[in-house]
Amino acid sequence: MLSTITLFTALTLITSLLTTTATATTIPTSTQTTNPQPPPLSYAILLFRAFDLLDVNGPLSPLQLLAHSYPLTLSLLARTLDPVTTRPASPSMNPHNASFWPSLTPTHTFATAPENLDVLIVPGGLGSRSPDLEPEIAYLRAAFPKVRYLITICTGAGVAARAGVLDGRRATTNKRAWGEITAMGPGVRWVAPARWVVDGHIWSSSGVTAGLDLIYAFIKEMYPDGHELAATIAGGSEYEPHNSTYDPFSSLFNVPTQNQL
Ligand SMILES: *[C@@H]1O[C@H](CO)[C@@H](O)[C@H](O)[C@H]1NC(C)=O
Ligand SMILES: *[C@@H]1O[C@H](CO)[C@@H](O)[C@H](O)[C@H]1NC(C)=O
Repeated sequence: MLSTITLFTALTLITSLLTTTATATTIPTSTQTTNPQPPPLSYAILLFRAFDLLDVNGPLSPLQLLAHSYPLTLSLLARTLDPVTTRPASPSMNPHNASFWPSLTPTHTFATAPENLDVLIVPGGLGSRSPDLEPEIAYLRAAFPKVRYLITICTGAGVAARAGVLDGRRATTNKRAWGEITAMGPGVRWVAPARWVVDGHIWSSSGVTAGLDLIYAFIKEMYPDGHELAATIAGGSEYEPHNSTYDPFSSLFNVPTQNQL
């Protein structure tokens, strides 16, 4: 029964996506993307211990739905092929010795990661502050010049800042963790308030759920029928993406205005 419903849902979605693709020629030209580059197809996400679950799954969910319309590939990268857990490495960060820590299984190690990725996504989470991130930082530093787009979600900007790849660039990050993360990148032009920031081929989002808003904006910008597909996927997900200026959290967490959008 469950699989029948799931299949029905999937077919309905595919049908609606195909239908919207077929009618894409009726979109007003003002909503068409102006990006002249071929749309990104190969995605990878960097996993490390104690990543934030929604930093990963937030962007991946709309992209997975987009994969009904484009031949997207996804690589899950980590230092080894062992499952990567959200469980904090330090017992002090798990004071009740809870066992509520899902894992994701990598598809590649950093050594076997595909070359010439279109998009590399760096999530955040408690692990972004870990002193034990050398393999992740080394990979990010080496891969950065070869990827077409780097996307950081939440405190993932701290990992990218630690790799030095945000130096001189405009970026944002989680507003509650602002002081801690921005200290990891004194050479970064940190932007607040901002839901997300685009500087050339670097896209960075504010905290956790902001990754969803970033990815909807990314889909709109990158795909010829991106506005239509983003609307279809957001509607089917019953989600209303925020724009880049939406940021009540800067004032909530007393982040001073700087390097404005
Ligand atoms: C924490 O829980 C695990 C089971 O999930 C148990 O094996 C371990 O002994 C516990 N550690 C402490 C310090 O209580
Ligand atoms: C962005 O969203 C805010 C509400 O959150 C709205 O006031 C503003 O007009 C929007 N800006 C644009 C450019 O759409």
